[in-house]
Amino acid sequence: MIRLEKIKYDYKNKRIFRGLDLSIRKGSYVSITGPNGSGKTTLAMLVKGFLSPTSGKVFYEDKDVTGEGLNDRIAYIFSNPENQIVSSLVSEDIAFGPENQGESGCELVAAVSRAVSESNMASLTDALTHQLSGGQQQRVAIAGILAMKVDCIIFDEAVSMVDPAGKREILDTLDRLSRKEGITIIHITHSLEDILKSERVVALQEGSIVFDGPPSGILENLKVTSALGWQRKGPAGFIKCLIEKRLLPCEYSYSPEGVAECLARGYDPES
Ligand SMILES: Nc1ncnc2c1ncn2[C@@H]1O[C@H](COP(=O)(O)OP(=O)(O)O)[C@@H](O)[C@H]1O
Ligand SMILES: [Mg+2]
Repeated sequence: MIRLEKIKYDYKNKRIFRGLDLSIRKGSYVSITGPNGSGKTTLAMLVKGFLSPTSGKVFYEDKDVTGEGLNDRIAYIFSNPENQIVSSLVSEDIAFGPENQGESGCELVAAVSRAVSESNMASLTDALTHQLSGGQQQRVAIAGILAMKVDCIIFDEAVSMVDPAGKREILDTLDRLSRKEGITIIHITHSLEDILKSERVVALQEGSIVFDGPPSGILENLKVTSALGWQRKGPAGFIKCLIEKRLLPCEYSYSPEGVAECLARGYDPES
């Protein structure tokens, strides 16, 4: 559905991409990871059409859209929610996107209320957007996108400020959108928990793809995990160690409580 072909991208005499190829299947749930400055945001902006490649082509549903500008079927959620909050009232902000797509009357009300319930925002619809916390603002921005009709949603570190419970709900929603509604999800993230929720992870380092495969594979690839700064210290290293010792299944979604529960229950790799 989305295909980048031989993409080169220069920024101020610096070559960010030197011949990048990437295809993303419709309805898939892909996470993109990599150290700061590895090109994740630039890649996503090329997909959305915020940027045009220096050379190479961008295809959307087999149509060459290189240099055509913004693709309306692709929603982009930034890490900084202030960049995309447009109204002073939460409910108005959520309605802004679908209204711009031409929705009105009952349809608009239905789209907004569906997005509100999906993102568990009911208690906040009458709140003032500027009085919300960063995490709440991120959730408003996400609800605004859920109210729209789009084929693909790009989350650029868009849940970084959301509290763990809220984040888990959002990740479950993403999973459902890709599985049940065929919406393509591209999640740019540093979080191992987020990555393990996706079906495919693409890791970038200095503008090159250093890993492309299932999330379980990335943990086994020491070269990639150390390039990503996931050393053996810290939570990711700890989880990796538990997986290696076969105390934890590879496909498990790792919230701290989940890990604790799984360890308490005991995991039998042969079962
Ligand atoms: N508009 C821009 N302003 C500043 N730096 C940019 C811009 N576009 C690209 N770059 C450079 O591109 C490289 C990749 O940046 P980016 O895509 O933001 O990485 P990431 O999202 O992985 O942290 C960095 O070296 C950055 O300096
Ligand atoms: Mg970025």
